[in-house]
Amino acid sequence: MKLLLLSGAFHLEKSLEKSLEVIKIERKFFPDNEQYIRIPYKQDDEYIIVQSMFGNPDIKIVETIFAIRTLKDLGTKKVYGFFPYLAYTRQDKRYKEGEAISQLIVLEMLNKAGLNYLITLDAHFHQGIPTIGDLKIKNITCAPYFYKFFEYANSREDFVIIGPDDDAYHLALKLSEKLNLKAGYIEKVRKGEREVETFGISIDVKNKNVILIDDMISTGGTIMKAYELLKKEGAGDIFVVATHGLFVEDALKKLRNLGIKEIITTNSIPNETAVFDVSEILFEEIKWLKN
Ligand code: R5P
Repeated sequence: MKLLLLSGAFHLEKSLEKSLEVIKIERKFFPDNEQYIRIPYKQDDEYIIVQSMFGNPDIKIVETIFAIRTLKDLGTKKVYGFFPYLAYTRQDKRYKEGEAISQLIVLEMLNKAGLNYLITLDAHFHQGIPTIGDLKIKNITCAPYFYKFFEYANSREDFVIIGPDDDAYHLALKLSEKLNLKAGYIEKVRKGEREVETFGISIDVKNKNVILIDDMISTGGTIMKAYELLKKEGAGDIFVVATHGLFVEDALKKLRNLGIKEIITTNSIPNETAVFDVSEILFEEIKWLKN
């Protein structure tokens, strides 16, 4: 079994080297912007492709499809994908007539290219894990792994864990199990790509320090609204933890200006808030796959 690193995972190279032999994709763009890839291939029956699809997801998806297909052409029997950040998962159904269900289309393309097994982290599979041909999909949550950053809050009466919407409640519950704290969620309605509205909170937060947990932070709108409501309801310090820190435009700056005590993410997307290395999860998966 070997690891093939694609461009969205080059930042993980150092830590991944500790597990299996790592091969890096060679990649360039032609003058007309078409993408070229080459795999410095070493024969093996099994490869794990590592790719995180942030920044320019379209380009990263094409790179991934080319890589999967090429591995298969070169004789690899089984291709696993470890995609810490899997793009396009949020469009998981047809909200308006005529919309493309991008999540399913992307997964189908990966499967058709020859992907056998996909491992991802806190992907937005809010309609359930989709069935795509013979593709096995494993969606791992990082929530329990975050406990080590909040161990000091374990069993403390003055701390609670809140999901900024009901979809994030399961994350709050998973972290709360580890920290022995109460969990709740905020009622949120999305009004547009950049606009959300919040209503009530499912538990009392008055004089409580709050750990807000979500799968991803994109524009930061969800966290900003949650912060405002929590403060209005009398919360104390607010800590934010999320698996994927996309922080589009100046989202991180805006969040920092609010006065959030601490913002923590994984390095599924490299950024200055990344403290949890997702390679740890891949190491566990490799052990499991080898048995
Ligand atoms: C929504 O369902 C997700 O779990 C996140 O809450 C959302 O994608 C965050 O986006 P933004 O930071 O743009 O509000």
